[in-house]
Amino acid sequence: MYDGDIASVLITEQQINDKVVELAKQVDEDYRNVSGDLLLVGVLKGAVMFMTDFARALPQPAQLEFMAVSSYGSTTSSSGVVRILKDLDRDIAGRHVLILEDIIDSGLTLSWLLKNLEARNPASLEVCTLLRKPDAVQVDVPVGYVGFDIPNEFVVGYGLDYAERYRDLPHIGSLDPKVYTSGV
Ligand code: XMP
Ligand code: MG
Repeated sequence: MYDGDIASVLITEQQINDKVVELAKQVDEDYRNVSGDLLLVGVLKGAVMFMTDFARALPQPAQLEFMAVSSYGSTTSSSGVVRILKDLDRDIAGRHVLILEDIIDSGLTLSWLLKNLEARNPASLEVCTLLRKPDAVQVDVPVGYVGFDIPNEFVVGYGLDYAERYRDLPHIGSLDPKVYTSGV
């Protein structure tokens, strides 16, 4: 699949699997005594694989919600100005909410999302991201759970895309620069 487009596999399917189970276990311990079902908010489309695997690995009941957001302006870097493409289907007031993200880069998207959801008065609000890039440390965004800290490379697979491709790869890899330059 996608022969030659992936320069190197950064995280294998097995490593993702193990990490998802580990994160779900941590979350389960932390939320064991809360009242009501945990509400998982997946950020579309990138977090969709993570969301479905995480929900199945979590030993306690959880409800699934999705949100789709998009940054205005530049497509290569986040501007911090975010537009809601698809909002949550229900009220989160009084609920324990865990945002599931695929990747935090500048942290601007997440920072906006946290403010937006906080204003809806959840009982608690936390973030679980599968991947985090080095720049994320510059923005003061509280992230409760991080799967992998990765180098500052553009990565694809397991939900992450380049021009909507590669989301269906079972592993996470860095994209060969030839893909950007040849304009797939
Ligand atoms: P910020 O910079 O606001 O943006 O944290 C996070 C969003 O940027 C996208 N992003 C990537 N997408 N491979 C991708 O497929 C990457 O390496 C990458 N880095 C950032 C992604 O949509 C994420 O939600
Ligand atoms: Mg993307």
